[in-house]
Order: sequence, then structure tokens, then C-alpha cells
Amino acid sequence: MSHYTIQPGTNIGGTVNISGSKNSSLPILAAALLADGNNILSNIPNLSDTRNMCELLSLAGANIVNDNGTLHINSRNLTDKKLPLELVNKLRASFLIIAPLLAKCGKVRIPLPGGCQIGARPIDLHLKGFSAMGAKIKQGHGYVELKCNKLQPAKIYLDFPSVGATENLMTAASMTEGETIIENAAGEPEIVDLSSFLCEMGAEIIGAGTDTIKIIGNKNLKSTQHTVIPDRIEAGTFMAISAITKSNLTINNVIPDHLKPVTAKLNEMGFTINENANSIEIVPCEKFKTVDIKTLPYPGFPTDMQSQFMSLMSVADGTGVVIETVFENRFLHVPELLRMGAKIKIDGRTAVIDGIKKLSGAKVRATDLRAGAALVIAALGAQGETEIDEIEHIERGYEDFEKKLTSIGVSIKKEI
Ligand code: UD1
Repeated sequence: MSHYTIQPGTNIGGTVNISGSKNSSLPILAAALLADGNNILSNIPNLSDTRNMCELLSLAGANIVNDNGTLHINSRNLTDKKLPLELVNKLRASFLIIAPLLAKCGKVRIPLPGGCQIGARPIDLHLKGFSAMGAKIKQGHGYVELKCNKLQPAKIYLDFPSVGATENLMTAASMTEGETIIENAAGEPEIVDLSSFLCEMGAEIIGAGTDTIKIIGNKNLKSTQHTVIPDRIEAGTFMAISAITKSNLTINNVIPDHLKPVTAKLNEMGFTINENANSIEIVPCEKFKTVDIKTLPYPGFPTDMQSQFMSLMSVADGTGVVIETVFENRFLHVPELLRMGAKIKIDGRTAVIDGIKKLSGAKVRATDLRAGAALVIAALGAQGETEIDEIEHIERGYEDFEKKLTSIGVSIKKEI
């Protein structure tokens, strides 16, 4: 297992460029299978998750050429071949391949995902939607099989505004003739980015970014060129790094609007944020206070930023409460923060954080992607050295993380 050794963050500053969004890239890569020609996708971050998604698409018959970070995807020869468990299990978003394979090949057989560290993460909402569109669904021996010669438009109400289910169903509906309506849909910026891509291919989509999305499908989608949006969670993570290290950091290549819920909480903590057209700076603040946070679907506070804010609150003034409503087990960073001296109590999905003056460096473990990012932030705000194990989790979601941290003055050593 690889690990980072990180020294406290003094003299941090300069500029960091945010990469393309991982969570936009994954559904867009899957949706690229819908058109026969050559789709050209730019700003796809080079991460294990995007590489695994490309491997999955290749197994399904896509031809993918990486030209200096720009991906050329040709999907003329798709197959409904059985997809291997080892690969599917490497990333939850592998399920997004259901939509293009079902829409184009009429059949898909894929291993059912297991639970993961942060929750059970079922796919019932995806399956209910596909069933409403006419798919026959069979489950057994750890696999789910969906079949449908011709998907039908449908009116689908999601019990919860699931990001993945909205993406999967919107993608399938884009190739389904007629009008599909998804109600109680997710409204994350990544949904809007996927919708732009699908519209560029020839679908008509109205309402992406709101809770009702209307999709008028087109069975002859055409290949296109698309640049994915910047990663708002990577940007938010660097905002937390800037805040905890009281540094002058310019965070470039961002869409400030997408960061509103994060910016609002930093403001409430006492930080002033300077926003430009595509960059953000946090004015260093000697004393900042804890806040109360409840994670919610967008535009609420993102669950993917909850752990990073808990690190920041661990060294803030006062007592703050964090309620995690999206995933049932997303406090895995807490025992690690406790090892660093944080004062946090958990009761179910609620954590109460008593801010202390300083965390202390310790040997800790990244249990999942964002929990790992939280530990990097904590390490930068601690006294003494911190060693973070299992950093493979962190590198699933942060392109060139070690390089970017080094470039802003962080003393970080990676050992494999
Ligand atoms: C996506 C993001 C992830 C983020 C999450 C919530 C990607 C690749 N990942 O994950 O980083 O944390 O959105 O913003 O974009 N659920 C069901 N049944 C379903 C689907 C979901 O019960 O069929 C539940 C999940 O278990 C979870 C909640 O709904 O408790 C939210 O999940 P969802 O929005 O689907 O998250 P993902 O798309 O998996």
C-alpha cells in the first residue's frame, strides 16, 4: 500500500489549476457509446476511475485513442458481452454503461455492485426507471440482466434525486424516440454537463439542473466534441486547504457558481472569498468558527465535501454539527481524525465537532476517496508529521494530487 508523508502546511501559496470533473467525465464517457462516429472528449482527468471506465468501454467494443489527454471514442462495434466483476467492482459508475448498451444493443448483463465503504448503494432506482422504459430485468448469480428490443419513453419519478440514476435514465432516454420525463431528478452541475453533451449529439433535453427533466430522444445521435466542466469537489478541497493553512492560494479553472454551497459555508465560518470569472481566492483568516452542515442533493451542501469540512472545523472556534443525509456510513474519517486529536462525537448520521487549537500529526488511513482528502487537509493543519496509508483511494479522484500539492509549497513525500 502506498502512503503520503506530509509536513504541516506553512508557506503555502501560488496557483493551482483544477482538472476536469471526474463525476462529469464518467457519465459522459459512458454516453459517448451512443453515437457511432468519433466522439472527441477533452478535459477528462487522468485518474484510475476514468482509466477503468475506458477499459470497460473498450471491453464493450469501443475503440478509444488517448491523444495527449483528449480522448477519441469510436463505438461503431459495440457488443453485449458479459462484463467482468473485477472491473465493474472497481468503480460504482460502471453501472452507467447500462444505458448505452441497452439502448444500442438491446441487452446488457453486468455484475451487481456490492456495498461500499460509505453505504449499501443499491441500484433499485436505476432498475425501476429502466423497467418503466420497457426493459425486462432478471437478477441472479450476482448479475443483473436487462433486455429490451426497443426502449419506450416513460414518466419516471425517482424516490430520491439519485445522481447516477438520473444520468443513466437521461442517457437511455436520449436515444429513445418520444418524450421521457424524469421527476425528482438530481440537479447537480454534472447532470447539466451530461445533458449538454447529449444535446450536442442530437437529443433534446429541457430542464437539466432542475428537478424535472424532459428528454426527447433521437435514435440517430451523432458524434460530437465536448469539454467537461472543472471538478468542483477538487476545487472545494483546495479551498479547504487554503483555509486551514491560512495561505494566499489562487484556485484556477473553476466555475464559482458550482461552488456556492461551499463558499457560503466558508463565509459563515468567517472567510472572505474573492471570486473572478474562473478563479477563486480565499482571504487568509487567523480565527474562524465552526458551522452547522447538513449534506443534501445539489444545490445543498455536497456530501463529497463533508469530510474535508470536518477537518477544517476540527481546528475552528466553537462547536459545530454535521448531519450526513445522503450516505448512511460516511463518517469513516472520524476515527482517523480522532487519532490526530480531534474532538468529535458521532451519533448515527450526526457528528458534533468541538474545535481545538491544533491537530497533531499521526499515522492514519484513507478509508475512501474523500475521507482521504480530509486527512490531507488535517495533516496540513496539524503539528508534526502525518503519514496517510492507502492513498490509492485519494488518487482515484485527484489528478496529479502530489504534484499539485508540491507546486503550492506542501512538503509531501509519496512512497509506493
Ligand atoms: C454520485 C457521485 C458521488 C456523490 C453522489 C451524491 C459520481 C460518479 N459519484 O454518486 O461522488 O457522492 O453522487 O452526490 O458521480 N440510491 C438508492 N438507490 C439507487 C441509487 C442511489 O438508494 O438506485 C441512494 C444511494 O445509496 C445514496 C443516495 O441514493 O444513499 C445517493 O446516491 P446517488 O446520488 O445515486 O450517488 P451516485 O450516483 O452513486
